[in-house]
Amino acid sequence: MEGLMHPTTATSFGGTQDIYYSSPMIVPLPMMERASGVYMWDEEGKEYIDASSGPMVSAIGHGNTRIIDAMAEQARKLDYAYTRVARNRPNLDYAERLAALAGPGFERVNLASGGSESVDNAIKFLRQYAIATGQESRHRVISLMPSYHGATIGTLAIGGNDGLTPFMEGIAVVADTIPAPMSYRLPSGYTQESHAAECAKALETKILQLGAENVLAFVIEPVGGISTGAVVPPAQYFRDIRDICTRHGVYLVFDEILCGAGRSGKFITAHHWPDALPDIIVKAKGLGAGYSPLGAMLAPASMVDKLAELLGFDFSYSYNANPISCAAGLAVLDELERLNLVERARKVGASLRAGLQEIMARSPILGDVRGLGMLLAVEMVVDKETKESLPGDLQPTERIRIHGLKNGVMLYSRPTAGSRFGHWFMIAPPLTISDEECQELLRRTEAAVVSYHEELKTAGVV
Ligand SMILES: Cc1ncc(COP(=O)(O)O)c(C=O)c1O
Repeated sequence: MEGLMHPTTATSFGGTQDIYYSSPMIVPLPMMERASGVYMWDEEGKEYIDASSGPMVSAIGHGNTRIIDAMAEQARKLDYAYTRVARNRPNLDYAERLAALAGPGFERVNLASGGSESVDNAIKFLRQYAIATGQESRHRVISLMPSYHGATIGTLAIGGNDGLTPFMEGIAVVADTIPAPMSYRLPSGYTQESHAAECAKALETKILQLGAENVLAFVIEPVGGISTGAVVPPAQYFRDIRDICTRHGVYLVFDEILCGAGRSGKFITAHHWPDALPDIIVKAKGLGAGYSPLGAMLAPASMVDKLAELLGFDFSYSYNANPISCAAGLAVLDELERLNLVERARKVGASLRAGLQEIMARSPILGDVRGLGMLLAVEMVVDKETKESLPGDLQPTERIRIHGLKNGVMLYSRPTAGSRFGHWFMIAPPLTISDEECQELLRRTEAAVVSYHEELKTAGVV
């Protein structure tokens, strides 16, 4: 198919990171040279709008000199101090700021270099806490199908992607999954609310099946990322799962790595459902906003301080809470406040969503627009009435990305759980995007959709 090629011929030594990925997945990736705000330029000088902040990372846009200066200043002053033998001021300041934003119940902040490391930390922390407090039997983790929680062995094991089961064989124990409260294709006779209620019931059924005394944690993305295409469960779902976890002594973990740090319209996504707060919150991506790898696990002082008295948390990484990442994180928080970006995520997100809905109304291959704040996804279909998915072997997620590149827009999309839940692409630009830039993003996105539709027509798929 046009546009697909394997670039291994390009070089005999080294090669860029994408050389590792499978050839059918490889498309000519642009060699990015520079970026500013929501725009990126490749070495040929072609301009792209970053419609998804990379993988929902670049939350405050590219080339922000305040962040860069803060990092450079910190690097000149104190580049590194290992947290097992020394303290550093940016770590203390950043932990205080994050905990204050998270509010009661999330007083203790454990930092790492990204999302997977932080989800791993959450599971390790809970397991160690369970052991230290006489709950040794609690070790099973329940997650949603589909879901994504990272790419370390530990986080792959708890992600809802049954295509990985043979790969994980003998490597790690794969977590038990229950259905995610999806919103677009519902079982017949169900509304989103009644389906979500069934999904919550499935949690209790699974806990009882495993034996409540054996279940450690239930891990979910409160707003779906790539795995579900920004599905937002109904509020009652959160109350239901909170209640079930509390009754069975199961710790509830919110993986806000993708939806957090303001993108959902609140800095802490869990604050959308204040009567159903989790026990642990994990954040990353937007925290470092692309300037420095940064992830955080937020836990209650009561648990962290108790574990510290008993055994102490046993695990760390060389780069956790390093001064440069903390300085970047502090500067990102300053920018979020200075530019009022969390509120902008709500306001501009609503107008982006309206613009996408208009494009959907004009396009026969767009079936759904969903999400929260500035975290949106657009589902592609063969037929809007039947909601039939595009054939997976046509790699719709890759093809729309290629049409995006041709039309000057970086559209992020990947198949999840073997594509059996459908195909979507994300619209989640930097929260700094202006109203005019939104219009340009929408214009280029529609051009990509129209040209993909043409391709599907020519291939006789639609
Ligand atoms: C919901 C969710 N959890 C965890 C991760 C893993 O984060 P990282 O890639 O920073 O390790 C991601 C990354 O896409 C994610 O979307």
